[in-house]
Formats: sequence, structure tokens, C-alpha cells
Amino acid sequence: MFKTFSVIIVTGGSSGIGKSYIEHAIQGNPNALICNLSRTPFFAQKGADIVKQITCDMSKAEAIEEAYTILTSLINVHAKTGRVMLINNSGFGSYGLFPEPNISENLGIIDVNIKGVIHLTGLCLPLIKQRGGSILTVASTAAFQPTPWLATYGASKAFILNWSLALNEELRGSGVNVLAVCPGPTATQFFKRAGLTQGSVSPSMSQTADQVVEESIAALKKGKSFIVTGWKNRLLTLFSGFTPRVLVTRIAASMIARYRTNTVKR
Ligand SMILES: NC(=O)c1ccc[n+]([C@@H]2O[C@H](COP(=O)([O-])OP(=O)(O)OC[C@H]3O[C@@H](n4cnc5c(N)ncnc54)[C@H](OP(=O)(O)O)[C@@H]3O)[C@@H](O)[C@H]2O)c1
Repeated sequence: MFKTFSVIIVTGGSSGIGKSYIEHAIQGNPNALICNLSRTPFFAQKGADIVKQITCDMSKAEAIEEAYTILTSLINVHAKTGRVMLINNSGFGSYGLFPEPNISENLGIIDVNIKGVIHLTGLCLPLIKQRGGSILTVASTAAFQPTPWLATYGASKAFILNWSLALNEELRGSGVNVLAVCPGPTATQFFKRAGLTQGSVSPSMSQTADQVVEESIAALKKGKSFIVTGWKNRLLTLFSGFTPRVLVTRIAASMIARYRTNTVKR
């Protein structure tokens, strides 16, 4: 799949799911221009030297503009032709009774998970349309129902899921396909960053980052516009779809509230 792109741009490749996307890209097409936009660099034993690190805080509009200027010059030098893939993966959540831990953390979620995605995609889209390509955006199963104690996070993912689906429809027939990826709990740094202890989610309910990436790449190959990864997650989202919204919010609240005993001091 990665072989069909000459440029692969990943946000948040320093850790977790984004890191796995980069590792799969290196394996699938080491000759592509692979760029990572995050605050800390991508690191791996193999292939790290192939990846062009563009240090970027995706919560800041000026940083995204600067990163795009660097990206354009790299493309002009290393990959003048060929299809372009953009993987919008950077994101985080924060656990607590709103506005815990503070208002600025909640606004930061919107900056990275929503504004950062829209900003970078808007900048890259003319080139992707001109050369053909794909846009893959990591949403979440949190998008399928309100998520008390992760209220801002879940709402940010609902926004980005609907936005991605709408974009795919707008671009139908243009040579650009847009995929929203909805993982459920995945074993990454996400939970620690959200203020939860390791092991808050049982391994039987989690996927690995590699599983999420492999399922999403298979979905992209099939031309799908969205994928919920993992069969247990697919069942849960199906249930959410059939259950009245007020009831599903209650159920989600009782499930997510259980994490409360696992919170860490930040
Ligand atoms: N893990 C899960 O259970 C799960 C479930 C569903 C969806 N997701 C989604 O999957 C995506 C990846 O998360 P993950 O699970 O792999 O967690 P992770 O291991 O914590 O990785 C998060 C990535 O996002 C980047 N990021 C965060 N804030 C950023 C900022 N201000 N600017 C640039 N990059 C930033 C981080 O890079 P730097 O810190 O180096 O900047 C890091 O590479 C997120 O969108 C998350 O919402 C995760």
C-alpha cells in the first residue's frame, strides 16, 4: 500500500499508533519521503535516519504554517512527483470531571485534535488533489457516544469523524480518498498522558498499535471511508448506534467512571 505514495506525512509519529504508521511506511516504502510532525522525534532502532523530522507543536497555528513551509521545500527537493499520503494522528485526551485538570488543557485538546487536523489538511489538500493521494485521520470509538470524564476528548473525536466522512464525500471522484480510523483502547502512552495509571484498561479490551495500523491500511486499500478497528470495538459501536443517546451516555458514564480509582496526580 505504502508503495503507491512518494510522500508520506505523519503527525505524532514519536509514539504509539503514529510511530507504528511510520514503521510500517519505512518497511513498505523506504524510498518515499517520510516526514514526521511532532514535538519529539520518531525514534526506532531501524530506519530512523530515513524519516525527516519536522518539529511541530500541532496546537499552534504558527508552528503548523512553519512546518508546512519546511514540508513543501522537502517535497520540492525529494519527491517532485507521485501520490501523497497524509496521516493525521496527533492527539490526546485528559481524564477528569470538567474542567479538570484545567480549562487550558481542555482547550489544548480542541487545538490539537480538531484545529491542528483541519489546519494541516487544509494546507496539504491542494497538493494531494493535484497529485492524487489519501488522507487518513485517527478518530476513536469515543466518537460514537458522549464520554463523561473524557467529555472534551470524546466530543473532539465525534467532530473529526463527521468532518472526515464529509470530506470524503466532497472529494468523491477526485482521486483522493479520505479514511477515518476509529480505534478503541490501544496500548500506547495515551492513558498515561490522559492522567491514568498503566493498566487502567484490561489487555483483553485493548489492541496493539500495530493491529490498529494494519487494519486501517487494509481498509484504505479497500477504499473505505471509515473503520472501527477490532471486533469487540465494532460490537460496542454498533450497540451505541442502536441505543437512545441519553441511555448510552449513562452507560458510558458508568464504564468510564471506573477509571477514577486509577487516576494519577498531574
Ligand atoms: N490509545 C488509545 O486508546 C486510542 C484510542 C482511540 C484513538 N486514539 C488516538 O490515536 C492517536 C494517537 O494516540 P496514541 O494512542 O498513539 O497515544 P500516544 O502514544 O500518547 O501518542 C500521541 C502522539 O500525539 C502527539 N501529540 C500530542 N500532542 C501533540 C502536539 N501538541 N503537537 C504535536 N503532536 C502531538 C505526540 O507527539 P509529541 O508528544 O512528541 O508531540 C505523540 O506522538 C490520537 O489521536 C488518539 O486520540 C488512541
